[in-house]
Amino acid sequence: MWQGNHQDHIQEAAQALRQGGLVAFPTETVYGLGADGLNPQACRAIFKAKGRPADNPLILHIADFQDLAPLVQDIPPQAKVLAQAFWPGPLTMIFKKSPLVPEVVSAGLETVAIRMPDHPVALALIRATGRPLAAPSANISGRPSPTSAAHVAEDFPTGLAGIVDGGPCHVGLESTILNMTTQPPSLLRPGGLSREALQDLIGPLQIPGTNPQDPPQAPGMKYRHYAPKSPLYLIDPKDPIGQVTRLWAQGPSHLGFLLSEDTLKALPPPPPGARIVNMGPKARPDLAAQKLFASLRDMDAQGVQAIYAEVWDTKGLGQALMNRLEKARGDHHKEDSL
Ligand code: TXA
Ligand code: MG
Repeated sequence: MWQGNHQDHIQEAAQALRQGGLVAFPTETVYGLGADGLNPQACRAIFKAKGRPADNPLILHIADFQDLAPLVQDIPPQAKVLAQAFWPGPLTMIFKKSPLVPEVVSAGLETVAIRMPDHPVALALIRATGRPLAAPSANISGRPSPTSAAHVAEDFPTGLAGIVDGGPCHVGLESTILNMTTQPPSLLRPGGLSREALQDLIGPLQIPGTNPQDPPQAPGMKYRHYAPKSPLYLIDPKDPIGQVTRLWAQGPSHLGFLLSEDTLKALPPPPPGARIVNMGPKARPDLAAQKLFASLRDMDAQGVQAIYAEVWDTKGLGQALMNRLEKARGDHHKEDSL
């Protein structure tokens, strides 16, 4: 394990990356599984290590705005405005790719996803490597994304050149992905930057899925994701207190609950064995977002039989939070209900 605040460790990690190794590193959203983004063989190793489908492209991470131009065909004016406002930060933009970008990074598409992470360790590592870093979230495909170095080590006990530890991630959910090759730009994945913040700056966005002529979403969005080992159910938003009270009245249990502070305060004492995470006030979905993936991993570590998660308003980071919860519950809710 390398320490992100040691200059020597950053240099060692950068050298491992230049030699084609895989290095996990912190960003403000989640930990990334990094490789030299201009080295096709190193990038292929990412897919192998994660068990990632080959049609799911990678994001290239840059540290300086001038590193964007060589990777793309052109920079639309709106992208400049967004970069100025939100980079470094949890925004990934999709551009037409330049010939410099390896096929494996874009998974055969004509476009490439680029982001400038808002984390001093990530920026230092990219600069020390002198290359854009290709990095998906540093989890085994399908698992909750890692928000600490320990989560990465849990999924990758071997196979990496190393992990750079930069402490817990403060956003906790992946970046928002905007396709800048459509007019208006399309929101491919809700994430750490809210739709409201984007629309305040550049006006309405296309939201794929709302119109049959819409371009497809990010390829990765079609796969099951973020999934804990235990089945996850969403609590009925019309009566969370009633539902949870009935579950608790059944006596000792090995169930897990992700609840807002507001709901927790209104509930009777929980039965023995129940595992409860206070996700914070309803008015602060950003705090719940920060805790979500770590809470799912924690529930698995406790071996709960099922997880019951409260539904949040889709304002601000609530939209990305609900997107991840919907994906985490997979398909089993179709057979079984609360
Ligand atoms: O916050 C984040 O974005 C984190 C950190 C490490 O930066 N990275 C991350 O990467 O979440 P990953 O690989 O787990 O998710 C990237 C998503 C996938 O859904 C992928 O399909 C989509 O971005 N994507 C990448 N390139 C694309 C492209 N050219 N067109 C459309 N979608 C693309
Ligand atoms: Mg991911």
